[in-house]
Amino acid sequence: MTIPALELNDGHSIPQLGYGVFKVPPAETERAVSEALEIGFRHIDTAAIYGNEEGVGAAIAASGIPREELFVTTKLWNDRHHDDEPRAAIRESLDKLRLDSVDLYLVHWPTPAKDDYVHAFAKLIELREAGLTRSIGVSNFLVPHLERTVAETGVVPAVNQIELHPAYQQRDVVAWAEAHDVRIEAWGPLGQGKYDLFGVPAVADAAAAHGVTPAQAVLRWHLQKGNIVFPKSVRAERLRENLDVFGFELTADEIAAIDALDPLDGSGRVGSHPDDVN
Ligand SMILES: NC(=O)c1ccc[n+]([C@@H]2O[C@H](COP(=O)([O-])OP(=O)(O)OC[C@H]3O[C@@H](n4cnc5c(N)ncnc54)[C@H](OP(=O)(O)O)[C@@H]3O)[C@@H](O)[C@H]2O)c1
Repeated sequence: MTIPALELNDGHSIPQLGYGVFKVPPAETERAVSEALEIGFRHIDTAAIYGNEEGVGAAIAASGIPREELFVTTKLWNDRHHDDEPRAAIRESLDKLRLDSVDLYLVHWPTPAKDDYVHAFAKLIELREAGLTRSIGVSNFLVPHLERTVAETGVVPAVNQIELHPAYQQRDVVAWAEAHDVRIEAWGPLGQGKYDLFGVPAVADAAAAHGVTPAQAVLRWHLQKGNIVFPKSVRAERLRENLDVFGFELTADEIAAIDALDPLDGSGRVGSHPDDVN
């Protein structure tokens, strides 16, 4: 199983499909990540705030997989943007992950009321120069946050990790990313299961036409849109299902029908608005 890689604007590459561990309980994380690695995932998305970096590190250490075959992302939490805290924070994350460096380090939220996201991203540039992370990016940034970050640091983030699923597509942020060679990482790619995405005809019909599950149809939509995804599951059978999305291709009409789902009644954001997280 070869997972396609996408090139980032800094010349490094990233597996387009990975495994995200938000809400994987710390006590279950080593088992879940070990299963994901065994099944074939090589890209793990975690964050300091998830409280499960130790489990990710334990699974990686036990796997025996060469470091260069893995892609590990973690994120700087909101209360550590100031002064030289990002350096202390990444060192703590690296200790927990048992790694010398991560592949991608993100500013988790812009926390605009505190007005410190430009400083935080400038610190990430230093961490990249120090070799503690290979690539740097942001998460939950809206267009004004992106514009200001680039204008004031002169560096374009490699990725912006945002809530994105068929019912909430953030087209303005995606258009900005395309124009500036920033990759979109879609968090909540399955809508976190918070509404009946799998029952809507555009998804159900595409799934039936290709003999796949609705979740696989949605993941395939993301991949064909160019999004990087790392769906979360604690169940081995779903991990296998979520990885098995390279044997079929949605048609242009099927893609267009899923594109047309935003807005889907009763849906929208499943997470917080970035302006409200401070
Ligand atoms: N940057 C940010 O602010 C941010 C925020 C949220 C998430 N993220 C990242 O994005 C990753 C993915 O997003 P997410 O975990 O929020 O949501 P998600 O992947 O859209 O949805 C996860 C939910 O879908 C279920 N599920 C997974 N595979 C399934 C399948 N094949 N069929 C049916 N249900 C399935 C899971 O249940 P089970 O576990 O019971 O299978 C879980 O309830 C996270 O793990 C995290 O790494 C980042």
